Amino acid sequence: MDASVIIREMSMEDYTKVMALWSGLEGLALGNADTQPNIRRFLKRNAGLCFVAENEQQIVGAILCGHDGRRGYLHHLAVSPSYRKNGIARRLVANCLNKLKEEGISKCHLFVFANNQQGMDFWQHIGFHQRNDINIFSQDIE
Ligand SMILES: CC(C)(COP(=O)(O)OP(=O)(O)OC[C@H]1O[C@@H](n2cnc3c(N)ncnc32)[C@H](O)[C@@H]1OP(=O)(O)O)[C@@H](O)C(=O)NCCC(=O)NCCS
Repeated sequence: MDASVIIREMSMEDYTKVMALWSGLEGLALGNADTQPNIRRFLKRNAGLCFVAENEQQIVGAILCGHDGRRGYLHHLAVSPSYRKNGIARRLVANCLNKLKEEGISKCHLFVFANNQQGMDFWQHIGFHQRNDINIFSQDIE
């Protein structure tokens, strides 16, 4: 593990660098929910739950985490390709789960694109289990 990589809370000042990390990564899709005002709102509603991994002022990992009072949700976990397999994602996820626990949330869900096999393998490897009893339904709200 590269000891110089620190995990800290995400702030709006990280927005540009985090978007640069997320953009173009396989396994992630960005949308309307990721505009600057919408991320600002997400961070405000979920204060202290979202994290970045930083190395010499470079953002090398990020994760969004939130809860609705019942369940926790993780979004957009990503680590820069050259920093992978160093335990950074595991640390980002652990930080989120610890914060959720502190807030009294006892279960956490996340969404993975069905074609993101590497992503699914990762989640399985760190102790998440795939649900085969649930399908996701969505609707755009005008
Ligand atoms: C998935 C991703 C976040 C993993 O990041 P990472 O920093 O390399 O992961 P870590 O080093 O923390 O891995 C933790 C453990 O999972 C294992 N692991 C990492 N990627 C894995 C994979 N694709 N398949 C299986 N195991 C994996 C590691 O070997 C490590 O195991 P260990 O602790 O037993 O030694 C990174 O590959 C990535 O950004 N992928 C593209 C974006 C993406 O798909 N995100 C998920 C969206 S749902």
